[in-house]
Amino acid sequence: MKGVVLTGGHGTHLRPLTHTGPKQLLPLVNKPNVLYCVEDLHDAGITDIGIILGDNMPEKVRELLGDGSRYGVKFTYLVQGAPKGIAHAIACAREFVGRDAFCVYLGDNVLKGGIRHMVEEFQANNHDAGIALCPVAHPERFGVAELDAAGNVAGLVEKPKEPKSNLALVGIYLLRPSIFPIIDRLKPSWRNELEITDAIEGLRKGGGKVKAYVVKGWWKDTGRPEDVLEANHLLLEDIEARNDGTVEADVEIHGRVRIGKGTVVAKGTVIRGPVAIGADCVIGPNTYIGPYTSIGDGSKIVGADIEASIVIGEAIIETPNKIVNSLIGRHTTIRSAEGRRPKGTQLVVGEGSTLFL
Ligand code: G1P
Repeated sequence: MKGVVLTGGHGTHLRPLTHTGPKQLLPLVNKPNVLYCVEDLHDAGITDIGIILGDNMPEKVRELLGDGSRYGVKFTYLVQGAPKGIAHAIACAREFVGRDAFCVYLGDNVLKGGIRHMVEEFQANNHDAGIALCPVAHPERFGVAELDAAGNVAGLVEKPKEPKSNLALVGIYLLRPSIFPIIDRLKPSWRNELEITDAIEGLRKGGGKVKAYVVKGWWKDTGRPEDVLEANHLLLEDIEARNDGTVEADVEIHGRVRIGKGTVVAKGTVIRGPVAIGADCVIGPNTYIGPYTSIGDGSKIVGADIEASIVIGEAIIETPNKIVNSLIGRHTTIRSAEGRRPKGTQLVVGEGSTLFL
């Protein structure tokens, strides 16, 4: 079985963070989202993986992933270019897939518990497709599946106005080459994309067996800032305490806190886990890092108060103003305006930023 990981799309809801790279590279607990997908595939025994590249800085994906040897897998890069939908992206993998079954994993999805059980079940049976489903509060934002009393798929609709169930299609699909001729015949949807949901529904209506797997753990599609923060929160629930850095005297550390190599936590600092801090950071003096925060490599957080946030890395934060539920991009500087004239909030903010003041 092969793997196909999608890394395209413009990530418009995550601007300005996606002005400097694809959304699939945004870090969750200091590790790019797409690596969680690669790990799940590897864990399911899938090591021959096609990476579909979009047109938003695809070179950054190649730079991170390389040939795959670092992750114990082999990557083949396939260029989709302009985003014309998930089914279009999958069609770009036709030659790569050949006659094999394959697992498509959207690179901006994270799933707790992995995919091994699904992949094994699919390989042991002769279903034409397998879909993962997860109950969600807002099914209208996703592809939605209706199941009959026996648990068989009775219908799949992409972003229905009136969803027939709360079961969203997780961005993980088990497919066979039989999907390609169906994709060939697809018409673009209202959002002008070729929808994989429509393709699998076509397969089902044509008599194909579509197996549904309802996921047991949690699942997140990291399309919007609040989803990225939520995914980070959920992943932090599982971290283990570890200190590879230097913690000075007069520092309080509560709960599970991970501190990377070369990081110094200076006096008067309080860290309340779960918190992950990368390598070569300076935290403190007199700083508070609250639960569900991750701080990427090379950041300097001095005299600050930050909670439930992601600092991507190489940022400087030196303000006593409390920062919560925030996504802070690389090389960002946040300083105190105290004592400056004229008084007021002073901003240098890039295109597509969102501020809550
Ligand atoms: C896509 C699919 C949708 C699925 C979702 C999962 O949505 O079209 O069916 O539920 O991924 O992440 P999109 O992210 O393109 O809006």
